[in-house]
Amino acid sequence: MNCPGLQARVQDKNFNRGFSPINNNNMKHVIKRSWAEPYKIKMVELLKMTSPQHRKKALQQAGFNTFLLRSEDVYIDLLTDSGTSAMSDRQWAGMMLGDEAYAGSRNFYHLEKVVQDVYGYKYLVPTHQGRGAENILSKILIKPGDIIPGNMYFTTTRLHQELAGGKFEDIIIDEAHDPENEHPFKGNVDLAKLEKLIKKYGANRIPYISIATSVNMAGGQPISIKNLKELRALTKKHGIRVIHDMTRVAENAHFIQQREKGYQNKSIKTIVKEICSLTDGATMSAKKDALVNIGGFLAVNDWDVFEEARNMVVVYEGLHTYGGLAGRDMEAMAIGIMESVDDDHMHARVGQVIYLGEKMIDYGVPIVRPIGGHGIFVDAKKFLPHIPQYEFPAQTLAAEVYLDSGVRTMERGVVSAGRKANGENYYPKLELVRFTIPRRVYTQAHMDVIAESTARVYERRNKIRGLKMVYEPKYLRFFQARFEPLK
Ligand code: F0G
Repeated sequence: MNCPGLQARVQDKNFNRGFSPINNNNMKHVIKRSWAEPYKIKMVELLKMTSPQHRKKALQQAGFNTFLLRSEDVYIDLLTDSGTSAMSDRQWAGMMLGDEAYAGSRNFYHLEKVVQDVYGYKYLVPTHQGRGAENILSKILIKPGDIIPGNMYFTTTRLHQELAGGKFEDIIIDEAHDPENEHPFKGNVDLAKLEKLIKKYGANRIPYISIATSVNMAGGQPISIKNLKELRALTKKHGIRVIHDMTRVAENAHFIQQREKGYQNKSIKTIVKEICSLTDGATMSAKKDALVNIGGFLAVNDWDVFEEARNMVVVYEGLHTYGGLAGRDMEAMAIGIMESVDDDHMHARVGQVIYLGEKMIDYGVPIVRPIGGHGIFVDAKKFLPHIPQYEFPAQTLAAEVYLDSGVRTMERGVVSAGRKANGENYYPKLELVRFTIPRRVYTQAHMDVIAESTARVYERRNKIRGLKMVYEPKYLRFFQARFEPLK
């Protein structure tokens, strides 16, 4: 009998190995040792329960786009893991230590020291969030006509590359575009693809390689240290920089610890530092891994790039010692970074995601495999095979899940992919709905409700019709596009 749940538990067994060695030679008697949260709840935020009629109206008003729903109309919010984390008591205490001086805030120097200690990058420029850093970096390093190879695109990252006159080229391994492929490191770079680009364009037209850890659009899939080392060797030979999108680097380190030979006994903190050491600089959206509601930075090892970034941040974000953030935000970020590389924190964080993924698999819901670090990505092409991609199956599915239970998810397919410079639509292979799990926010019971709701929608999938787009904004259309149901 084909039992998909069993395969997931094999993965779970690997997961357990990282922190609960069970002395047992006979696999028949392995007792599962569950993760549990390494924290307890001190304050709660009440949620609003809604009726199906209420949700139907809210969805119509939102143009069938979950981004346009009011948060008050949402029960469990899985739109994103960005800026939605619960901060710890220590982070909140840190907020009270905000030094709100215009220049030279003590919180900036604390943050700078933490970035140097934990990540190893030399120079820090704070920004209001990740895309602020992407903007500055793209403007400094990219000239019109340049090529920026990367391990799959991210929406804001690619847009800033394009606005600076560059062109993104995907060099992720082919396995990453196949939702069912179980490759343990689907974030890896295909070095042959990169070499081909270098040959075609010449190294001087490639200002840097854009490498994300825990690749968001691939389903939160990790890159291995082995692959990063090979990439480092190749780029060194050609004198090309590697810039790291380190938004979810600690989650990537977790998977290295669980899956890569030689890393089982290394701490997440050690692995994070090794990852960063194989790159020349980074952009960070601290709203994810680093457990804050707002914040980001650019961090580099190269003095020249730093100097230019320090000049430019004043134009776009704020003075170089606050970059659009309050002192208290920088303090919360410094503390959050330290908490993010704690092994117990990360095991529970990813453990919760795996718990939800296994439930989905048990219900037969098609999801991206292996289960990623920050959420479950449901394969909408497989879930709704009768809806062609131009009728937005992932957008449709996100709307249906909201209607069923008030759970808000996000489209990551043809709408998110947007249009090319020549106006044509990108048609990505992956047409996904992301169930993103905020950090330290929801309980296991919430995970049960989410899986059950998705299973109910799956049961009536054949009756579901697609959507048509009736309003399309010019940039990052997924945020504000509006849809209507097809008759
Ligand atoms: N890079 C990655 C990999 C991201 O996931 C994001 C944001 C950014 C850069 C941009 O950072 O939002 O702070 O400006 N991702 C959010 C998400 C929006 O929902 O995945 P930002």
